[in-house]
Formats: sequence, C-alpha cells, structure tokens
Amino acid sequence: MEKPRPRLATRLTDLFGIQRPILCGGLMWLATAEYVAAVVNAGAMGFITPRSYPDIDAFRDAVQRCRQMTGGKPFGVNLYISARPGENEKMKLFLDVLIEEGVRHVETAGYSPEALLPRLREAGCVVVHKVTTLRHAQKAAAAGVDAVVMIGSECGGHPGMGDIPAMLLAARALEALDIPVVVGGGIGSGRQIAAALALGADGVLIGSRMLVADEIWAHRAMKEYLVGLDETCTTTVLRSLKNTYRCLANETAAEVARLEAAGQSDYATLGPLVGGALQKEAYESGDWTKGVLSLGPAAAWCDRLEPAAAILDRLEADALAQLDAVARKRG
Ligand SMILES: Cc1cc2nc3c(=O)[nH]c(=O)nc-3n(C[C@H](O)[C@H](O)[C@H](O)COP(=O)(O)O)c2cc1C
Repeated sequence: MEKPRPRLATRLTDLFGIQRPILCGGLMWLATAEYVAAVVNAGAMGFITPRSYPDIDAFRDAVQRCRQMTGGKPFGVNLYISARPGENEKMKLFLDVLIEEGVRHVETAGYSPEALLPRLREAGCVVVHKVTTLRHAQKAAAAGVDAVVMIGSECGGHPGMGDIPAMLLAARALEALDIPVVVGGGIGSGRQIAAALALGADGVLIGSRMLVADEIWAHRAMKEYLVGLDETCTTTVLRSLKNTYRCLANETAAEVARLEAAGQSDYATLGPLVGGALQKEAYESGDWTKGVLSLGPAAAWCDRLEPAAAILDRLEADALAQLDAVARKRG
C-alpha cells in the first residue's frame, strides 16, 4: 500500500522517508532501540547512540532489536565524533555494525564527519550533520552531507562556543545552502515547528522535549522532576575548557561552575563530575542532583509522562493549528 503523503511534507520527510518533519536527536544513555523504535513507529526519525551500550555486541543487538520493532521502517544511528582522535577508536566498529545491519540513516555530531563520508556514501547512507556555526555547515555541505541541523545555543548538550540562537543560525544557513536545513535547539512546541517551517526550514530536531517519553528508560522520579521545570531550568558549564555544555542546573553543575570559577581546568578533577558514569547513575536512581545532565530549556514543555507517539502527535497537531491560525489571520 502506498504511504500517505505527510501533512507537513518537506525535503526532510522525502530524504528520510518519514511522516513528520521531526528528527529526534541522539541521547547519550537514553536513545536505546526501544526509544528509537517508538519515534520511528510514530513517523519521525530517531538515532540509536552506540556509546550507550557496554560493548559492540550489545550495540549490534540493539540495532537488530530496533529493526524487529520497526518492521522495515528506516531508523538511524548517532555518531558523535570527538575532536580528540583517541576518543574515536570505536568509530570503525560502529560503522561496521551499522552498515552490516542495514542502517541507512546517520546523524553525525561533534567534529567534522568528512573522514567517515566515503564509507557512509558507499553504503548508501543518508547523513545529517549537526553544527553550531554557519562555517561548519558550509564545510559539511561541501564535504557531501545530505542535510544539516543548525544547533542553537539553547540546545541541551553541546551548543558550541558562539552563543548563537537556533532561528538565527537556521535563517543564515537557508540563505547560504542548497541542501535541507533543520532547526535544532530549544524546540519543544508545535508553534515553534510552525515557525521553523515558516522560516523555510525543512524540519526540526528535538532532544530535551522527548525525555519524558514512556520509552525513555530513565527512572520515573527523574521524569516527574522534569515535568515540574520551566525554561529557567538549565545552565552551562565547561566554557573555560572551550567545551560549553548545557545541562540541568543541579548541584553537580553548580560544583563544576565553582571549580571553574576557582581556575580549575584539569580534566582529572572535572572529569569525574562531568563524565558519563555519574549521568548513568542519575538516570538509574532518579537522583537529579547527580551528574551533569544534558538538558535545554525546551524541557519547559515536558508537561506529562506519555508515549513518544503522543508527544509527536501533539507537536504536529499544534504546528498544523498554528499554521492554520496564521493563514486565517492573513486572510
Ligand atoms: C539527555 C541528552 C543527551 C544527549 N546526548 C547526545 C549524544 O550522545 N550525541 C549527540 O549528538 N547529541 C546528544 N544530545 C543532543 C541532542 O541530540 C539534540 O541535538 C539536542 O537535544 C537538541 O536540543 P534540545 O534539547 O533543545 O531539543 C543529547 C541531548 C540530551 C538532552
């Protein structure tokens, strides 16, 4: 049977074969096979984070499970590329697994994906790269990525050093590039999706808004805490290390900020506070005071615990309603 044409069809929905112009970005520890399958089955695109799994076999198993759960729909893998080559030693294995297992949609982030592109291209993969500056978007487009996500300083995780908001970055990219442009960072509501489409963007990428999805395995207490937050809930740390990181404003983030203000720049001291082990513990225990936990102010729209499909339904319905309201107002 032929698929229905997406109600909000764009170059992004064509490129990824999805029903909604929404990418759900990789989430360290949390973008598991179960979560990605849920967003994919709901018509968006999701990306499994390989580093969330203890070893390569567990990652392969996750890809295979996701394939079963999605019944042939395309789903993606996130490849976070470090600027420190020593931290990318598992990349070849991740590529082997995703290509062997038939994954054809990849979200790259961090450092330039250029070195990975020949292999991804040869395997027929669609590659969307997340950037925080126009210059990096232009470089990625010239290197041959299929689409870029312009990640603004409002995003959860790594906003870069430029402090440039998502809408401004995306508008600049739309004027400079021919490939699809996606707005990422700070998006938590349908009216923002409508605004992104009105801007001319091909879609949005969201992270923080999805953290209260039922398929996110984090402890219920953590998710209930997120429901109570507003847009003032985040802070940034590690700017002194030129590695700005937007996260929940909790006790650990305050401690990191205190150490940075005292001139501490040594990873041996800061590493244990900002590292993944503490994050994982926090998601397991639900203790939101522990760890530097990636989060953006779009968490303000985390209003209830519900399936990913329900969140995506509401986002799309609100975007459509907003677009209709604008059309009516303009007669
Ligand atoms: C909890 C969490 C974990 C994240 N982990 C990753 C990751 O492992 N790799 C990556 O490329 N981006 C990661 N991100 C960034 C998201 O993929 C996405 O770019 C970001 O959340 C968009 O901004 P928003 O949170 O304002 O929607 C993470 C974000 C959050 C909130």
